[in-house]
Amino acid sequence: MKKEAGKRIKITGTGIYVPDKILTNADLEKMVDTSDEWIISRTGIKERRVASEDQATSDLAIEAGREALNSAGLKAKDIDLIIVGTSTPDTIFPSTGCWVQKGLGAGNVPAFDISAGCTGFLYGMILAEGLILSGAHKRILLIGGELLTKITNWEDRNTCVLFGDGAGAVVLEESDDESGMLSSYWKADGNLGELLYQPAGGSRIPATDQSVAQRLHYLHMKGNEVFKHAVKKMGEAAVEALKSAGLKKEDVDYLIPHQANMRIIEATGRRLKLPREKVFSNIHKYGNVSVASIPISIHELNEEGKLNKGNIVLMVAFGAGFTWAAVAYRW
Ligand code: COA
Repeated sequence: MKKEAGKRIKITGTGIYVPDKILTNADLEKMVDTSDEWIISRTGIKERRVASEDQATSDLAIEAGREALNSAGLKAKDIDLIIVGTSTPDTIFPSTGCWVQKGLGAGNVPAFDISAGCTGFLYGMILAEGLILSGAHKRILLIGGELLTKITNWEDRNTCVLFGDGAGAVVLEESDDESGMLSSYWKADGNLGELLYQPAGGSRIPATDQSVAQRLHYLHMKGNEVFKHAVKKMGEAAVEALKSAGLKKEDVDYLIPHQANMRIIEATGRRLKLPREKVFSNIHKYGNVSVASIPISIHELNEEGKLNKGNIVLMVAFGAGFTWAAVAYRW
């Protein structure tokens, strides 16, 4: 979808929170039959953050949200909508958005979750754009928060080496200049849902002794199948978002791909023929933090002083659903 000139939303604040505890590949070697060498060569991950037992997703999201508000120069009461992307809500209901609203003391503003797997942050940006440009809302706090280590099967080496915990947040408002969201592209394919999912805990397989014994409440994934789709769909989304923004590959200053696997990140960069230094990655220190990966990356890229006004940033994600999306953005 291409935007009308002058009418766009922009990020006016960013924040992140990652738990203190670090789980290294060496730690994982003691837990399952794996090796630091295998994990680094197949994924690029060296370590990931793990939340403490008493932390829930909203605890991470509130910290990230608070930092984003501070960096926008706002107070919680200035926000008029809270959206949280997550696949690991504190509770199925109420939404994590409502727990965050309470924790931030944001007043009775509407608050809800979106479930789009690792694509949730970009789905949230596209949704927020519609809500702001329609005039319905002025300042939206969009948070991606994930606590995947609590649904990770620590006996399954195929999945437990990949994921981590974290949260990233942005404040979104209507842009008063040329910067902001230029175009977007979002898709889903529900036919492939069972390649990456949490089978139990919903209404299809409610919690029973049997569902717990069968470990159906953990994340299940056919990694190599997911890999192939992720490479293809992230490439497609990146190209389509650029096209609808009227931009060329060489216009991109930074690609921020969802941090799922270093090989997927590099393949997406190659599809756009981008030099390595234009492709952002922090997967080595966080692993796959799902919906939190893009907002954490935006924040870090900005904190590192790498983003200059006018830079073109292309964000692209793929996740459970399957869902995939891209957003072209002028900083
Ligand atoms: N340590 C050591 N060996 C491992 C291992 C681990 N942690 N995990 C799997 N293996 C083994 C497999 O058992 C298999 O052994 P086999 O050949 O004897 O059967 C071998 O490594 C290759 O497995 P395969 O699944 O084909 O590896 P891969 O190259 O596809 O890499 C993933 C596996 C999971 C890293 C990769 O498929 C991936 O990243 N997929 C996408 C996951 C993802 O991003 N999901 C979220 C999307 S948002």
